[in-house]
Amino acid sequence: MRPAELDLTRQTVWLDSETDFAGWRDAARRLALNEIGPEDVSWQVAAGSDRPPNDLPDVPQGAQLAVPREFIGRAETAFCHSDPGRFAFLYRMLWRLRSEPKLLAIASDVDTRRLETMENAVRRDSHKMHAFVRFRKIGDGDDERYVAWFEPDHFIVERNANFFVRRFTGMRWTILTPHASADWDGERLAIGPGAAKGDAPDQDDTEALWRTYFENIFNPARLKVKAMQKEMPKKYWRNLPEASLIPDLIAGADEAAIAMIAKMPTTPAPHHAKVQERHWPKGQSTEVTGDEDASTISGLREAAKGCRRCPLWRDATQTVFGEGPDNARVIFVGEQPGDQEDIAGKPFVGPAGKVFDAILNEADVDREKVYVTNAVKHFKFEPRGKRRIHSKPNAGEVQACRWWIDREFALVKPALAVALGATAALSLLGKAIPVTKMRGQVIEREDGLRVFITIHPSFILRIHEPADKEAERERFLRDMREVKRLMVA
Ligand code: URA
Repeated sequence: MRPAELDLTRQTVWLDSETDFAGWRDAARRLALNEIGPEDVSWQVAAGSDRPPNDLPDVPQGAQLAVPREFIGRAETAFCHSDPGRFAFLYRMLWRLRSEPKLLAIASDVDTRRLETMENAVRRDSHKMHAFVRFRKIGDGDDERYVAWFEPDHFIVERNANFFVRRFTGMRWTILTPHASADWDGERLAIGPGAAKGDAPDQDDTEALWRTYFENIFNPARLKVKAMQKEMPKKYWRNLPEASLIPDLIAGADEAAIAMIAKMPTTPAPHHAKVQERHWPKGQSTEVTGDEDASTISGLREAAKGCRRCPLWRDATQTVFGEGPDNARVIFVGEQPGDQEDIAGKPFVGPAGKVFDAILNEADVDREKVYVTNAVKHFKFEPRGKRRIHSKPNAGEVQACRWWIDREFALVKPALAVALGATAALSLLGKAIPVTKMRGQVIEREDGLRVFITIHPSFILRIHEPADKEAERERFLRDMREVKRLMVA
């Protein structure tokens, strides 16, 4: 029963802002415990001195509100939706949950469905924000900072600000939106009032960089205009520097796809026979001579061209040896060269290499200053039609190639090794280890070499779900930042 002295026909609740979930939660608790039903409550938002004081009843002594814990988390997400009726709706759900504790499991219930729809919309909007915020540089030297303008559909700035703190920790930046702004000064995050588009710069020098990047990652063979417009709705285009390229890229996609297919690897690679002939002239012995010049990296690289320590040399185009300064402080070890590496003769230049490069760059690790190699130096693959499909090297092939990798380590003498994935870990540690469980850890070998364990960057490429992919990328970025810290420590 409602206490007689409160005799309210309608109770007004004033919230501090559109995202004042704590205020809503406190009010909802007081109202429900005083048996004030949803139809008797009016929810309003007023900020600062415009906001009248709330006159809410106290929680009756000893009273407890029992709602499923799951509801609070889900309500907090739905609370960011721009639907002005959400405060009343969420209170109605809370009210119902007291007598229908299984309500959230009833998928056919109209309120449960509405809650889910709102949550999904907020999540989708957050994903768009992660993908489409573009910073523009203002100022130089000590005044350098980055400002972005973004127009979300929902009230999601507060919810997503920490994502940008983690991603751009080393930059000073501000994200302006009509509802709120987030400002990171390198140490503290501040949430402020909304802004206008004119408050953000609309051009800077990094735009050309973005356009080049976009042109390079644009895959015409995968172009699906409808899907693309769904993923990147036109409303975001006006704030994306690369958007000006989209109409031309779409128009030229068919031609570009044909060119791309023409460039796709075949079996054998067109110049495979010639390169093989150069490295392994017909009639040359297949025995290991043992007289390789192993006193310098360049001597070793030369010797490795003729390596026949395992049978993989027969089908590969060439040996892909390690690259980098011969006094690097860190050696990154991958699995084996891929299709593009086999043709280029260089490690990590294909799709996994691009992911690797981008994340190293973000972690402030200069690839020019590190040594990058593979546990196995020849591409192992299975022909499928005209394609060559990567095939995992076996323990014997890894063992055979340790001859080279041990010498690379002996010459470079790094302070740290980074095992990118299970094959690299097997090669460096001599035993199989569970990489996902042990990632981020450093294992010290008997010879004192510290081996940092992480995943192979191609693992990120294989994830399809955008949110999972992004989360995995973040984890790998964190690992690379740790590598950076260990490198300079
Ligand atoms: N994957 C690897 O492990 N190494 C490369 O060089 C390329 C892809």
